[in-house]
Amino acid sequence: MSNRMWGGRFATGPDAIMEEINASIDFDKRLWRQDIRGSLAHAAMLGETGILTRDDVAAISAGLKSVEGEIEAGSFTFSRALEDVHMNVESSLKDRIGAAAGRLHTARSRNDQVATDMRLWVRDTLDAIDEQMADLQLALAEKADLHAGAVMPGFTHLQSAQPVTFGHHLLAYVEMMSRDRGRVRDARQRLNECPLGAAALAGTSFPIDRHMTAKALGFDRPTANSLDSVSDRDFVLETLSTASICAMHLSRLAEEIVLWATPQFGFVKLSDKFSTGSSIMPQKRNPDAAELVRGKAGRVFGALQAMLTMMKGLPLTYSKDMQEDKEGTFDALQTLSLCLAAMAGMVRDMEPDLKVMKKAAGLGYATATDLADWLVRVLKMPFRDAHHVTGRLVGIASAKGVGLEKLTLAEMQEAEPKITEAVFAVLGVTQSVKSRVSYGGTAPVNVRRQAKSWLRRLAKERG
Ligand code: ARG
Repeated sequence: MSNRMWGGRFATGPDAIMEEINASIDFDKRLWRQDIRGSLAHAAMLGETGILTRDDVAAISAGLKSVEGEIEAGSFTFSRALEDVHMNVESSLKDRIGAAAGRLHTARSRNDQVATDMRLWVRDTLDAIDEQMADLQLALAEKADLHAGAVMPGFTHLQSAQPVTFGHHLLAYVEMMSRDRGRVRDARQRLNECPLGAAALAGTSFPIDRHMTAKALGFDRPTANSLDSVSDRDFVLETLSTASICAMHLSRLAEEIVLWATPQFGFVKLSDKFSTGSSIMPQKRNPDAAELVRGKAGRVFGALQAMLTMMKGLPLTYSKDMQEDKEGTFDALQTLSLCLAAMAGMVRDMEPDLKVMKKAAGLGYATATDLADWLVRVLKMPFRDAHHVTGRLVGIASAKGVGLEKLTLAEMQEAEPKITEAVFAVLGVTQSVKSRVSYGGTAPVNVRRQAKSWLRRLAKERG
């Protein structure tokens, strides 16, 4: 039997393997809501413009709603022989309302139809992801507010650099999420044009109203060029690159949680809710969720790479290659959503060990810069000279196996005779973070102010 939807010039049906490689229904059935939404808007427009009779449009709309109800109820059977979601829906419509179903596809093609469905799906998903990003920001900002003054080591090269506060560290991720959300907004705004009515590639001779369908589907306007409309997947690429950057951020935080949760660091504890045990080592508490967030980033990046590679060789306009835009996109966005939820859960769950963090903050001569700055400020030394003197003092302390604050004044004065007792005041980690009041710096007053400002912004957004 040839295909019921397009088999006019075909004598037989496809080879089994042809059907298998061609069919997308196993994954694109996920687009059913968007497909029906698009068809309802298209049918209404065909009625308004007089292309179809009111009776046909009424029958089509009622039929589509009954298909929708059946899919929603889970009793709809999708068929591979019907290739994809578009033909499954249309074929079922035909079973319900008969001949009028065949008029729905007037002035439309699956090419503009799938482009519309996919835009709608990506738009819906971006909105949901933005909410999750906001929730993660909230979790981070709340914890940052609570620990605005909690001293921890700041690292460069993963070597002790200068003391910072835990709140400051968490707010760094709030900033990253804020840029991620900006990219989501951007992608959403650019994707929000409606390809429906571009038909196969050249537009149509029917007197359709593309502005009407665009508006009905919540798009800002119809797309301007019919060829571009059916061959463009930039909106998928932008979404996947946005998702990739966000997944990279989540992976960095996940990596930090993995490190912090080791007995060696001991900076944070995850409760039983976010830890797993080992089947052989009874003492273990593994941060599996963090490891998985880190690991899953690869899948998101992979989807972006696959999509770029799939598109790069395609001549205008639609080619069936483009059907490959779906599985990776669905998987990547579902993965990102899961990672955002897991990260928000872990951030809320993790408890910092403030004592351990503070102690670690003083290791590795982390206040050496404070000492050098003191030499500059009080003794008016050029910074380069102060750097040199401080380096010598670190060498002396290191040879003795003690911290800078444990050197005697006499030992200090061996390196620089003008040093006074007052220097010891700047060698503590608390004093160090307190002093960093420059805009964006780690001083607890700054951190508290920023955390509060984020909390206000996020609350306002929620309305
Ligand atoms: N399932 C197809 C896809 O996802 C729908 C478009 C088919 N168009 C065509 N000319 N065969 O790309």
